[in-house]
Amino acid sequence: MAKDSLTITDNRTGETYEVPIFHGTYPKYASAIRTADLREIKVDDDDFGLMGYDPSYLNTASCQSSITFIDGDEGILRYRGYPIEQLAEDSTYLEVAYLLLYGNLPSASALEDWTDKIKGHESIPESINGYLNGFGSNAHTMGMLVGALGGLSTFYSDAGQLQEKEYLELHTARLIGNVATIGAFSFRHSRGMPYIFPNQELGFCENFLTMLFAEDGSKYQADPALIKALEVLFILHADHEQNCSASTMRGIGSGGADPYSSLAGAAAALYGPLHGGANEAVLKMLGEIADVKNVPAYIEKVKNREVLLQGFGHRVYKHYDPRATIIKKTAYEVFEVTGKNPLIDIALELERIALEDDFFVSRSLYPNVDFYSGIIYQAMGLPVDMYTVLFAIPRTAGWLAQWREMLSDKEQKIARPRQVYTGEDERAFVDIDKR
Ligand code: ACO
Repeated sequence: MAKDSLTITDNRTGETYEVPIFHGTYPKYASAIRTADLREIKVDDDDFGLMGYDPSYLNTASCQSSITFIDGDEGILRYRGYPIEQLAEDSTYLEVAYLLLYGNLPSASALEDWTDKIKGHESIPESINGYLNGFGSNAHTMGMLVGALGGLSTFYSDAGQLQEKEYLELHTARLIGNVATIGAFSFRHSRGMPYIFPNQELGFCENFLTMLFAEDGSKYQADPALIKALEVLFILHADHEQNCSASTMRGIGSGGADPYSSLAGAAAALYGPLHGGANEAVLKMLGEIADVKNVPAYIEKVKNREVLLQGFGHRVYKHYDPRATIIKKTAYEVFEVTGKNPLIDIALELERIALEDDFFVSRSLYPNVDFYSGIIYQAMGLPVDMYTVLFAIPRTAGWLAQWREMLSDKEQKIARPRQVYTGEDERAFVDIDKR
């Protein structure tokens, strides 16, 4: 009779062990054994027991989560069960942030309260302005953001208060509100422009565009099509389950660090070009290719392993990233307002050739979320060093949802992987004149 367990025979000893299998919502992606159960498998009583060895966590679930679901083979992404396509079409970033954090879509009055709460936390401590002013004009805005987020923990004396729910709510609203303003101020400082302070009368995305682009707060009017495009981009970037930066947020938070420091760590993880820094790398790549006629030569360089095709490939998706499909469509809506970004032609040709070429097909390499997003941001007038900041701002909601889920999960302890030691056995110290 079928049983939900694994029988393992240790050929060193002839012993057999039965290890239970448990399941999440979708057994295809969510059947697991507890690798701690393997510790029972020992040669003798002195043996530490067997571990799972999984460099870079290719096949290790670090938590049970009910926030985001990805079916990488089918190209499906859902937040709390809602398809990303429906959320991008019908929702707003703040509504989605609420959904990620609290598990359900808000009622009209809950959304109003939530929006007021976030809007009430868009102002950042004045000392952060001074801190940002200290950066050189060529400082990367992502470096400024990471520094300022970490710095927030020193400006909020209650940053380390994690026990009571009211503090968790305070930190959550503060970070979602503050991060947008810090991102906008980083941009303004790097361009030598005066800060435009948040306007509580404006929606989250409209206010953000105003803080970026207004010459004078009262005169700037963001185009509704650009506000809608930013809402869509922010929704698409809001969470993506246990990726590099979310795992960092959980990992730092598991040691009891305050959420401001944990979020700075998550943002630092995002900064890397293999993760959220890829949107910047894509634009640099497209600029380097410069013309559609140079695309075949670039593809050859990728196949010769000289360069990566930036914005392609994903650990989880072995199918078109559903976010890239939506972003590609959004690009044309933005171009209606801004004029076409000619780099889109190079990107489309890269995609066309790659999707027909066996090198990419056999490795299931498709465009990911970062492939088209930078083209939109550039059309909106934003410089490449802002693209990862524009990823970090909405991802703050996801990081906080993941962190709060971790805090409430009784199974979670301080994150601490094991290692398989491969170094020297014990040896005696050698005096310097004898080496
Ligand atoms: N260009 C060329 N070859 C690639 C690419 C790429 N973009 N991505 C993967 N490959 C190749 C690898 O060389 C490898 O080939 P091999 O098996 O012959 O050695 C194979 O495809 C599998 O790739 P891995 O690197 O093993 O896949 P992994 O899951 O470790 O990496 C990653 C995923 C980091 C996203 C990778 O695809 C990559 O570097 N992409 C480019 C950077 C990028 O766009 N990152 C953003 C990802 S989305 C996000 O984080 C927000």
